[in-house]
Amino acid sequence: MVVYQVYPRSFADADGDGVGDLGGVAAHLDHLAWLGVDALWLSPINPSPMADGGYDVADYRGVDPAFGTVEDVERLAAAAAEHGIKLLLDVVPCHTSIEHPWFRERPELYVWSPVDGPPNNWRGTFGGPAWSEDPHGRGWYLHSFYPEQPDLDWRNPEVAREMGDVLAFWRSKGVAGFRLDALQQLLKDPELRDDPAATAPSIMNGHPEHEALEHRFSSDQPGVEAALRALRAGAGEDAFLVGEVGLPSGRHPRYLEHLDASFCFELFFAAWDAEALAAGIRAGLETGKASWVLSNHDFPRLAERIGRHHVAAAALLLLTLPGPVFLFQGDELALGNGPGRPAGAPEAPPYDRAGRDAFRHPRPWTAEAPHHGFTTGTPWLEVVTAPEGSAAEQRATPGSPARRVRDLIALRRTLDGPLEDLTVRDGVLSFRRGDHVIAVNTTDAPRPFPAAGAVVASTGDRSDGHLAAGVANVTSSV
Ligand code: GLC
Repeated sequence: MVVYQVYPRSFADADGDGVGDLGGVAAHLDHLAWLGVDALWLSPINPSPMADGGYDVADYRGVDPAFGTVEDVERLAAAAAEHGIKLLLDVVPCHTSIEHPWFRERPELYVWSPVDGPPNNWRGTFGGPAWSEDPHGRGWYLHSFYPEQPDLDWRNPEVAREMGDVLAFWRSKGVAGFRLDALQQLLKDPELRDDPAATAPSIMNGHPEHEALEHRFSSDQPGVEAALRALRAGAGEDAFLVGEVGLPSGRHPRYLEHLDASFCFELFFAAWDAEALAAGIRAGLETGKASWVLSNHDFPRLAERIGRHHVAAAALLLLTLPGPVFLFQGDELALGNGPGRPAGAPEAPPYDRAGRDAFRHPRPWTAEAPHHGFTTGTPWLEVVTAPEGSAAEQRATPGSPARRVRDLIALRRTLDGPLEDLTVRDGVLSFRRGDHVIAVNTTDAPRPFPAAGAVVASTGDRSDGHLAAGVANVTSSV
């Protein structure tokens, strides 16, 4: 299964207001069908004050007017299904927006301090204390992320019931599954004990203030299985559920009981080095339910993180791994970061205070200036272009990043069997899938690697007995 992540604000704007929308997604389904993806995941589309790019939800059953309507979701699900593409939504179960009516009307659904002030030393993921004083004068509430995102109390069965109903609601609109946000934060220590000082970095590369503590009590508590069971019950057995569990894979099993997959962050954050990549793959394989991803809306684009000259090999590696694989919009164009929030613009919604706008720029559809087919209006952030051109240009150019991703998705359908013989030799990572051998030269020099058969895909020159610098290939013995 190949899942394509759409960041709706920045995918395509159909109504000319400068903000991407559901009409824009519908208008470009042909691109996703051309690539050959199996599913499309939309980052949150619910009504939101946009304090955290939509991950601050003010109504779980609604659609933000900037993106469209519930009927647009139904239409999109149906249109995507005609292309054989499933629609997945992003659900944020850990917290709501502070503007959600529940926060005013049903405070018992949230986590409150038992004292008049922060009861412990917990820090928010983006820095600062994890406790803030309630603007309505009811004491202090917990927020694992921004202060505008109060945490729901998953020890209250009402929360599980409400959220299960939300999933059932979207299933009834034709949605096939969900990406579940920040699951490690669902349950906290009931005694609210202090987190100890960190002795090792956490897996998620968070804010230094957050990283200074080991999140022993503020996250990942036993009993979370019940929460996941409620989400599964709401979604139905046939829904696809992938969890964002921001923990080492070794701590995912208690989440996976009721999920189909969880993201493997070891591979995501591995340096472009054969040993590190192999360790990342091994960590994911151990859960038996890893889904693989190398970029998303939270971290610098792949071209910036591993170097543009490795992007093609990264696509080959990612798309030959067994199990669900996630591509972030623009990855297929080898898009890099943009400048982020425009100079002089206030650090306020819709811009992100944690500096992630640079990874979320609108993408180019055509060569046409000024906005490359993204919008006829003024884009909320300028369109970032790729050295290899827009989607239209890349689709027409053999050997372009987009053509390569498309070819790899097609090749992926011929790969059978589990990942075996994971090996690292002299900077070359290799493994076998049935009759195919995948090899990635992560170094900047040629490396000997005798082809085990015919080369069926390669990111560079095919030379006998060698992999050129940075080149990855797939060979087949049949
Ligand atoms: C997840 C999202 C991120 C968001 C956070 C809080 O990590 O990917 O964008 O800020 O959760 O909801």
